[in-house]
Amino acid sequence: MDRYVVFGNPIAHSKSPRIHAVFAQQTNLSLSYEALLAPLDNFEGAARQFFVEGKGANVTVPFKEDAYRLVDQLTPRAQRAGAVNTLMKREDGTLLGDNTDGAGLVRDLTVNAAVDLVSKRVLVLGAGGAARGVIEPLLGESPRQLVVANRTFAKAQALATLFESLGPVTAAQFADLDAPFDVIINATSASLGGEVPAIPGTLIAPGHTVCYDMMYGKDLTPFNRWATQQGAAQVLDGLGMLVEQAAEAFTLWRGVRPDAGPVLAQLRRELAQS
Ligand code: ATR
Repeated sequence: MDRYVVFGNPIAHSKSPRIHAVFAQQTNLSLSYEALLAPLDNFEGAARQFFVEGKGANVTVPFKEDAYRLVDQLTPRAQRAGAVNTLMKREDGTLLGDNTDGAGLVRDLTVNAAVDLVSKRVLVLGAGGAARGVIEPLLGESPRQLVVANRTFAKAQALATLFESLGPVTAAQFADLDAPFDVIINATSASLGGEVPAIPGTLIAPGHTVCYDMMYGKDLTPFNRWATQQGAAQVLDGLGMLVEQAAEAFTLWRGVRPDAGPVLAQLRRELAQS
């Protein structure tokens, strides 16, 4: 049976094995998918050992940059993301590194939530690894303007420079923003600490702006709670992105696209009851 895993540390609570088990059922493919704890100081050893037999792996915190350095070849989107969340062993034994996070976010926004990004003004908050992974796929949707804003401005500037050849992306400081955006994506880790990036409420046009927090939880994230208070038309969280990045990885490995919808609905129900 073909073996797949997700590497992380910690990893015990990963939802990926369940998601991929459902995808395998849906597509009638026989495969195994487990969570594997890699040591913090030896991701490479764990990965090399697994790939003696293994076919593919997902990679999560904190190993996405290690995976980027490990592979023999990168897809263009992984190259620009500077991180790898999906590994695949090819026929010749070499390792391919891809990054499906950004495609997962865009699919969740545009397909599941039916938010059209064409000609829209889009704001990305944050300039760490999570933000870097989504800029190229967002630009691929042809927004009118993509602004990257970060608490540490220099990091937003560096990201805008990195992607400027791909579309209309610029950097901004939180304090310089005032006009409303059509879509605001929170790619900061602020929600983890119960915080909200220090942006003005005027960035949300009541009844119009769609807000997306890449974090998720049982209740509204701090950012989505704040956005709701400002009158956001819709608030979305990162559970859909999680399922869709998995669907993208599954498609890469097996050449068949699974249906993320039922898995997302099931995880949402379970989260509500937890
Ligand atoms: P990740 O891989 O999740 O992107 P990261 O690379 O550590 O993690 O980046 C975290 C991002 O969240 C950064 O953009 C960080 O801003 P700084 O670059 O100024 O540190 C942002 N961030 C974290 N906590 C924040 C907060 N309370 N308010 C605003 N931004 C925050």
